[in-house]
Amino acid sequence: MASLKGRFFSLLLLSITCIVLLILLQGNVLGSNSRTGFLEYNRFREDSDEGESTPSPENPQNYRTTRRNSLMKPKSDKKTTPAETPIPVLSLKSFDKLPQWDFEDIYNQDSPPRLTTCAQSLRNSQDEDFQKAFLPGVRLYLHRDNINMSEWNRLSHFNNPFGFMEMKYDDVIPAVKLIPEPKEPLLLPKPGGDGCVHCAVVGTGGILNGSKMGAEIDAHDYVFRMNGAAIEGYEEDVGKRTSVYVHTAHSITASLLFFKEYGYKSAPHDEGIKYVLIPEGLRDFKWLWALLKGQMVSFGRFKNKDPRSYYSGQFNESRFYVLHQDFLRYVRNRFLKSRGLNESSWAIVRPTNGAFTIFLALHVCDTVSAYGFMTEDYIKYSNYYVEKSRKTDVIFYTNHDLILEKDLWKSLHDRKIMKLFQRTESLKETEAEEPLTLRKP
Ligand SMILES: *[C@@H]1O[C@H](CO)[C@@H](O)[C@H](O)[C@H]1NC(C)=O
Ligand SMILES: *[C@@H]1O[C@H](CO)[C@@H](O)[C@H](O)[C@H]1NC(C)=O
Ligand SMILES: *[C@@H]1O[C@H](CO)[C@@H](O)[C@H](O)[C@H]1NC(C)=O
Ligand SMILES: *[C@@H]1O[C@H](CO)[C@@H](O)[C@H](O)[C@H]1NC(C)=O
Repeated sequence: MASLKGRFFSLLLLSITCIVLLILLQGNVLGSNSRTGFLEYNRFREDSDEGESTPSPENPQNYRTTRRNSLMKPKSDKKTTPAETPIPVLSLKSFDKLPQWDFEDIYNQDSPPRLTTCAQSLRNSQDEDFQKAFLPGVRLYLHRDNINMSEWNRLSHFNNPFGFMEMKYDDVIPAVKLIPEPKEPLLLPKPGGDGCVHCAVVGTGGILNGSKMGAEIDAHDYVFRMNGAAIEGYEEDVGKRTSVYVHTAHSITASLLFFKEYGYKSAPHDEGIKYVLIPEGLRDFKWLWALLKGQMVSFGRFKNKDPRSYYSGQFNESRFYVLHQDFLRYVRNRFLKSRGLNESSWAIVRPTNGAFTIFLALHVCDTVSAYGFMTEDYIKYSNYYVEKSRKTDVIFYTNHDLILEKDLWKSLHDRKIMKLFQRTESLKETEAEEPLTLRKP
C-alpha cells in the first residue's frame, strides 16, 4: 500500500515537472529568434538609468522616448512626435556576439535606378542566389540629407563601420552634416562606348607581381584601387590609372608609412579622381570634419594632421563620397557573414576595404574584373605586390576572414558575375591553347 502511494506521488511529481518544463521550453523556443536582441537591449537599459518607454527591436522608432524627452513633452504628444533625442549609447561590450535585431537585414533602398543598355551587365545575371541577395537600389552614400534622428537611432544598433554603436551623437553628426549629397553618380557610361560600364578593381595582392596585367587593367573604362595602391615602378603589372580610390582615414595615412620603403609616396590623385571614404570609426568622422572644413583634425588619433594634404590637391567635395552604413552592413550580412561574428571578438570582424570596393564596383558597374585579390594558390605569392624581392606570407588577422573572401571571389568568378584574375587558370588556358597558337621552333 505504502509503496503504491509512494509511486503515485513520484508519478505526479514527474508529470508536474514535465508540464512546467514544457511551458518554459515553449516560451524560449518561440521567442528565441527575436528575443536575443530584445533582452540584450533591456539589459543595457537597466544599466543605463534612462528609460520609461518600452523599447522594441521591431520598431526602432519606439526607442524615441528618453527621460529628457518625456519630461519636456506633454504626455498626449508622445505617440505622434518624431524621435527627437538619441537613444542611450549602446556598448559593444554588452554583446558577446553579433546581436541580431529584427531590422538587421532591412536597408534603405533609394539609389536611383541605373538604366543600362548593357546586355552583359552583371545585373542581368541569371544566378538565383545572386539575384536573391543583390539589392541594386541599396543606398550607397551617407550625406547630410539622409541622416535624421530616427536614422541615427536605428543605425546606433550596429557596430562600426555598419552603424554608430558606442558613438555619441554630438561626436559624429557635425561631420555628417557637412557631407554634401553627391550630385552625380560615381560613374557614367563612357561616351562612344558599348553602353556598358567596364570596371577593373585592383587589390594589393602579391599575385600581381610579374603578372604584366597593367595594360589590360588600364583598358577598362574605370579603375578602382584602395589602401596602399602603389603605382610608380609597378605600372607594367598593375596599370597606371585610378578613377576611384577607396580608403579609410587609417588606410590613407598608414599606407604612406607602411609602403614608403616600396616607393609609395601618396594616394592616387589622377585628374578628376573620385575619392570614396569607408567611415570605419569615430576617427573617420573626425577626419571627415577636418577634411570638409579644410582644417586640421582637432581630436584623437589624427590630431594636428591636415587631411587635405593626403589627397595631393585632388580633393574636391563634388568628387567625394562616403559609403553608407546600410551598404556596408548589407555586404557583410548577405555576402560575407564570417563565423567570427559569433565569437567574442565579433565587433572587429568585417570585410576588408578591398571587399567593400569590389561590392561598390558590382553596384555601379556593368562588368567587374578583380585583380590582386586572394586566389586558391595565394600561398605562392607575397602578401602585397610591392613585396617583389622578398617572398612574404599572407597574414591572417582576426578582423578579416580572408578565406571566406577568397572563396567568394572564386564563386563570383565561377558564376560569371565578375572576373577574378587567377594565374593558374590563365596558365592552364595558355597551355591548352598552345598546340594551336604557338609552335616553338
Ligand atoms: C529620416 O530618414 C529616413 C531615411 O532617409 C526617412 O525614411 C525618414 O522618413 C526620415 N524621417 C524623418 C522624421 O524625417
Ligand atoms: C570641383 O569639381 C567641380 C566639378 O567637377 C568643379 O566644377 C569645381 O570647379 C571643382 N572645384 C575646385 C575647387 O577645383
Ligand atoms: C551564428 O550562430 C547562429 C545560432 O547558433 C547561427 O544561426 C548562425 O548561422 C551563426 N552565424 C554564423 C555567421 O556562423
Ligand atoms: C616578382 O616577380 C618577379 C618577376 O616575375 C620575380 O622575379 C620575383 O621572384 C617575384 N617576387 C616574388 C616575391 O614572388
